[in-house]
Amino acid sequence: MRYDVVVIGAGAAGLMCALTAGYAGRRVLVVDHANKAGKKILMSGGGRCNFTNLNSTPANFFSDNPAFCISALKRYRPEHFVELVERHGVEHVEKAPGQLFCADSSKEIVRLLLTECDWAGVEVRLKTRVEAVARHGEGMRLATSLGPIECGALVVATGGLSIPTLGATGFGYDLARQFGLDVTDTRPALVPFTLTSHWKDRAAALAGVSVEVEASCRGGRYREPLLFTHRGLSGPAMLQVSSHWQPGDEIVIDLLPGEEAFAALRAARDATPRRRLSTWLGERLPKRLAQALVEWQGDDGVLAEQSNARLEAWAEALQRWRLKPAGTEGWRTAEVTLGGVDTRAVSSRDFAVAGLPQLRFIGEVLDVTGELGGHNFQWAWASGVACGLSL
Ligand code: FDA
Repeated sequence: MRYDVVVIGAGAAGLMCALTAGYAGRRVLVVDHANKAGKKILMSGGGRCNFTNLNSTPANFFSDNPAFCISALKRYRPEHFVELVERHGVEHVEKAPGQLFCADSSKEIVRLLLTECDWAGVEVRLKTRVEAVARHGEGMRLATSLGPIECGALVVATGGLSIPTLGATGFGYDLARQFGLDVTDTRPALVPFTLTSHWKDRAAALAGVSVEVEASCRGGRYREPLLFTHRGLSGPAMLQVSSHWQPGDEIVIDLLPGEEAFAALRAARDATPRRRLSTWLGERLPKRLAQALVEWQGDDGVLAEQSNARLEAWAEALQRWRLKPAGTEGWRTAEVTLGGVDTRAVSSRDFAVAGLPQLRFIGEVLDVTGELGGHNFQWAWASGVACGLSL
């Protein structure tokens, strides 16, 4: 079998690249070892796929080579994907500022991509194993469970390591190393935190409680909801902070973002001295959390009984809650992988490997990782299109 282009990985980036190259007249084959295309798309956004972020900029991405993503993101913008989504009649909603989700189901995004692949004449073969890859003249040669396949260009779109049960493998990294590329350290990101037993029990007692916080770690600062779980802490604020966190780090949580707790407590003591602290807290925080805080601090006097020093201690506990997570839930639940194929040997225009233009890497397999909120799919679309147009 011979194709102009073979794409390994029928995920977001691979399908986007394939359909783009297909429309450009290339004979394209996509192979994937999974039994379904786009499994992560199907699972994403709680089944509704947060398919882009209208405010996406290169500043929303982490990489050892931060300028690498600029070119592709500039050329294929969120509005371009929105136009495609609307052309296919996919209803969407903006849940948080800029974050666009399917109104109905993520399935519509996979259907859209497979329909476009079909229209562009792309062949998609699932349940296909790639056993070996070798350079073959100006092109590449693959040994696969379909037999030997030759191609002019091979695009590696095998994604990151998160959620192995969805088909994630380190295949793309191994291939990169085989052809002399470096792979930067990888670690799970956009992942919930686990806690040591004392805090774990406290979090478990509050499982299901969600509260808007400002959380920070190593310069990353996010004002988003925090969710207490049976294992620890989750919710957008914690997922975002996990991309900055290193083992042993503390995270700092402000439970009353935008408020000056010490000043507010003193004002409340002057205005309503007979009020209990728990009542004051209960007006600002979910009741279960307010109650738990009072128990943790062992203090629920009336405001008039609180000295300035006590109020200051309360303000500190509320606005600079310092917590050292035990770890994260790891690859099992992480949404993305930080790190990946080192982009310094890859062209930011066409995603070709330096000195080996018939080999390309796109999407999450590269050392480019977005924040939460639709940025990772935007990277998959943008890198897929940039590469596809050049094939
Ligand atoms: P992707 O992982 O999509 O595709 C890789 C493909 O390669 C897979 O089909 C896999 O089976 C295949 N493959 C791997 N190894 C192979 C091998 N050895 N041989 C053959 N095939 C192989 N992002 C976002 O922007 N908004 C969101 O709402 C979410 N939500 C979300 C939820 C959850 C639970 C997860 C796990 C992730 C998200 N993400 C997200 C992240 C987003 O899903 C991710 O960044 C993109 O899917 C990456 O696209 P890629 O095409 O690069 O890899």
